[in-house]
Amino acid sequence: MKTISIIYHSGSGHTTQMAKAVAQGAASVKEIKVNLLAIEGSQIINGRWQDEIVMEQLNSSDAIIFGSPTYMGSVSAQFKAFTDATSAIYFSRQWQDKLAAGFTVSGSPSGDKMNALMTMFILASQQGMIWVGLGETPLNDNGINRLGGYIGAMGQAMQESVDVAPNDEDKLTGEALGRRVAEMARRFYQ
Ligand SMILES: Cc1cc2nc3c(=O)[nH]c(=O)nc-3n(C[C@H](O)[C@H](O)[C@H](O)COP(=O)(O)O)c2cc1C
Repeated sequence: MKTISIIYHSGSGHTTQMAKAVAQGAASVKEIKVNLLAIEGSQIINGRWQDEIVMEQLNSSDAIIFGSPTYMGSVSAQFKAFTDATSAIYFSRQWQDKLAAGFTVSGSPSGDKMNALMTMFILASQQGMIWVGLGETPLNDNGINRLGGYIGAMGQAMQESVDVAPNDEDKLTGEALGRRVAEMARRFYQ
């Protein structure tokens, strides 16, 4: 059994929808256990993210998938507080060689969301992790990767209800990312 943790922040629920889709994709692969971990405001004390129990869950995972809304062209402050809290792991190298991937939801079709994914990629690289991109083109009939991103899964949602946005295509994109990371985890950790 391999464990994949999805750690994400969502302000108004759209990234939560994407996170659930990523989890569904990962869980569709046999012998994969999924932890779906939301970053909550209560985990941030005096501006610092503090939750050792969640950090332990991440430390014992085979792969970690990061998720954040795109806020002001980057990850949310809450997600950044979490990434800063991983600096101790930089020294202990506990995430070295774990698989990593990322997803984000922005309001605009672009919305500079690439920068949010790049922040996750840099975090993973500093931690010595192995980044898994989306591995899908937009050239398909089911709408997977309709926004044409490769570094991770992209979704779009402005102020619509979480029932309709991100849309089904974006959720399929999230599922594809989760499934790919799970399949890679099974191949990578023989
Ligand atoms: C503080 C803030 C900043 C935002 N900045 C951007 C942005 O830079 N680009 C963009 O396209 N959308 C931006 N948005 C829109 C969000 O990315 C979008 O609504 C997303 O679906 C929110 O995800 P959530 O419901 O998980 O919080 C911003 C929203 C907020 C609240």
